[in-house]
Amino acid sequence: MRTQVGIVGAGPAGLTLAHLLQREGIESVVLEDRSREYVEQRLRAGVLEQAIADLLVESGAGERLRGEGIVHEGIELQFDRERHRIPLRDLTGGRSIVIYGQTEIVKDLIRLRLAAGLPLLFEVGDVSVDDLESERPSIRFAHEGAEHVLECDVVAGCDGYHGVCRPSIPAGVLSEFSRDYPFGWLGILAEVAPSNDELVYAHHERGFALLSLRSPELSRLYIQCRPDEDLAEWHDDRIWEELQLRLGLDGWTLAEGLILEKGITGMRSYVAEPMRFGRLFLAGDAAHIVPPTGAKGLNLALHDVRLLAEALVSWYRTGSSELLDGYSDACLRRVWRAEHFSWWMTSMLHRFDSGDDFDLRLQLSQLRYVTTSSAASTSLAENYVGIDRI
Ligand code: APR
Ligand code: PHB
Repeated sequence: MRTQVGIVGAGPAGLTLAHLLQREGIESVVLEDRSREYVEQRLRAGVLEQAIADLLVESGAGERLRGEGIVHEGIELQFDRERHRIPLRDLTGGRSIVIYGQTEIVKDLIRLRLAAGLPLLFEVGDVSVDDLESERPSIRFAHEGAEHVLECDVVAGCDGYHGVCRPSIPAGVLSEFSRDYPFGWLGILAEVAPSNDELVYAHHERGFALLSLRSPELSRLYIQCRPDEDLAEWHDDRIWEELQLRLGLDGWTLAEGLILEKGITGMRSYVAEPMRFGRLFLAGDAAHIVPPTGAKGLNLALHDVRLLAEALVSWYRTGSSELLDGYSDACLRRVWRAEHFSWWMTSMLHRFDSGDDFDLRLQLSQLRYVTTSSAASTSLAENYVGIDRI
């Protein structure tokens, strides 16, 4: 088997890369170790920066996104039992965010690719990447009982944080940077209309809570929990009770409904540099992770593959490797901005058990500043909607 770009992983990064390349006449094969059902059910992020929503629409993958995506022009920060609106649109010269589930993006891209008869293999096994420093890198894998070798011009490692591509880079090449947080998020998807028109990020002495949504009928809610929290101890009533305590306000209660899904998300910051080794290019979670508080993970993954697609198109068209050579540095500038923003939002909004109230006092001061100073709220807003040039 031979292709131009071998793509490992059919998450948003791998699928979007394949889609952008196909529009430019560049062939790829996408290999995914899970089943189609699994990747289409997996509940993930849901906030798109305007530029990322535009990328999907302009590239022809946004038909459903255009109809079902919900535009939000602000978010709310809650602390001391009061809500304060950050008017994203007004503060950023007209930019907003679009609420549309990552799961829906994945479904849309899979459907487009399979309808076009293009190669996307699910349930591949024993994936390994070889000869990365040569001009003929390859991917070995098993599929439907047979062993295969896919020869490529380049390999795109879009296989997420737990994938095989990053660990295939020899020891000593990558520099890794990380930060673990002493908490996680317990998240639910509930069959109830969102109780607020905009997202609410709530600072509370019992811990952080977030009110989000997936559609006019589906709420997505999170509470800060221990990183090793046992989901079995969280029966539905207890989850709603905790959400009411943390999000509740005088004269406002959270509407409750049937809990369709629940899960625990870890919180980590991580970056591997550079995002390239020979003919292997890493993109998305394979190269970096952010805690979800800034809603940046999905957006970063799609910014990466946009740059990678442009660089590959330029290389195939002109023979110049200038953009490919600059890929890692260009991505990392945005990655580190998002790393800082996500760490900062996380630090401002979560409860840290540091023994005294020093952190708490700093958080409340920062929240007051961010919600009253136009300089500070503009800074939050421009990071949240996505910085244009970086
Ligand atoms: N072989 C093939 N596929 C693999 C392998 C492997 N060895 N290991 C992992 N994969 C697949 C995973 O099953 C997954 O479908 O690679 C895909 C990686 O997708 P994501 O984890 O969604 O990562 P990415 O496409 O970079 O998207 C980042 O996902 O975790 C969220 O917050 C994150 O929203 C962000 C987005
Ligand atoms: C979500 O809706 O899943 C969501 C929204 C905002 C975040 C994180 C997750 O910051």
